[in-house]
Amino acid sequence: MPISPVLERQTTYPFVRLNEAARRVEARGIKVIDFGMGDPREATDPLIRQALVDGLRDRMGYPQAQGLPELREAIAGWARRRFSVQLDPGTEVIPTLGSKEAIFSFAHVVVNLERGKDTVAFTEPGYPVYERGALFAGARPLALPLHERHGFVPDLDAIDEETWSRLAVFWINYPNNPTCATAPLGFYERLAAHAREHGFVVASDEAYTELWFDERPVSALQLADRTNVAVFNTLSKRSSMTGYRSGFVAGDPTLISALKAFRPTVGTAPQEFVQRASVVAWGDEAHVERTRALYGRKRELLLELFQRKGVRVAGSEATMYLWLEVPGDASSESFTERLLSHGVLVAPGSYLGAAGEGYFRVALVPAEEECARAVAILEEVL
Ligand SMILES: Cc1ncc(COP(=O)(O)O)c(C=O)c1O
Repeated sequence: MPISPVLERQTTYPFVRLNEAARRVEARGIKVIDFGMGDPREATDPLIRQALVDGLRDRMGYPQAQGLPELREAIAGWARRRFSVQLDPGTEVIPTLGSKEAIFSFAHVVVNLERGKDTVAFTEPGYPVYERGALFAGARPLALPLHERHGFVPDLDAIDEETWSRLAVFWINYPNNPTCATAPLGFYERLAAHAREHGFVVASDEAYTELWFDERPVSALQLADRTNVAVFNTLSKRSSMTGYRSGFVAGDPTLISALKAFRPTVGTAPQEFVQRASVVAWGDEAHVERTRALYGRKRELLLELFQRKGVRVAGSEATMYLWLEVPGDASSESFTERLLSHGVLVAPGSYLGAAGEGYFRVALVPAEEECARAVAILEEVL
């Protein structure tokens, strides 16, 4: 049977193994509190749900890949209010079916093996989809480590000329999953200057820009020159809408035009009723403020515990995660196994990439009562 060798080589997603381990613990009668995956468990705002229902018509024809003009305008309006930037909804924005599919397939849009633009760079520890998209597109993946001593931003000075010239796309993700770090606009400016010089695309995955605690993160959309820049954002985390699948790509009109040409082939235009719900979601900030406040309370609860117990917090500026140093000299995996045996599931940093060894990630997704229960357990275990 001719199965893709890339697919055959793909190993089990580590989180699947983590969930299997949790089921084994539950089979022993221990209730597991799940801080593993970043899937929000909050209810979606009723106004957004209603807009979805109202968007359902007798006949729903094929949605257009470029998306509804109302949605593109709602996204441009949000970007204007949030980042003080102007986006032309006609040429600089395209809605996506959540950001994962758009991230995965982006290598297909920009990798050019004939011209030697064969490399996709991304940072690790990190979201695994950048690498998988590169592999399926036949590109060369290049993992760049994120080190704490370097502020969890990739060391651009360590990249040689040949690598710069072979780059098709450089993925960055701030606020960063899993390190919770943010990056200053100056970092984006430096990278975008390299992109213009060497002819590659800066793809900025900004899934977590809205989940911040003290300071509002910046966006690559704020660059004075957005040539070769594409920004990916989503309603999944901002509006607790993972199941709706709704996001967008915005940036350089040449890239948006390439996406408009590519996406009808893949069939990834979001359903119109989802697009109508998304218009309401991008237009409202009150529910986002409530969500942020809720994550803030859970964060405080856990940070207080970790501080009391001498567990060092390596990152907690933004996102729905905390990034913590494994205490003592245990490996990430054995430490998290120990917590799991007491009913608290967290992610070993090593599951997110080699440079994640020595850390663990806590997704602030359980309800506040469950977080309080976990604090009581960890009080004894740590
Ligand atoms: C860094 C990062 N980017 C993108 C996504 C994808 O989000 P969605 O496809 O739900 O928009 C996630 C989801 O967890 C993520 O962690």
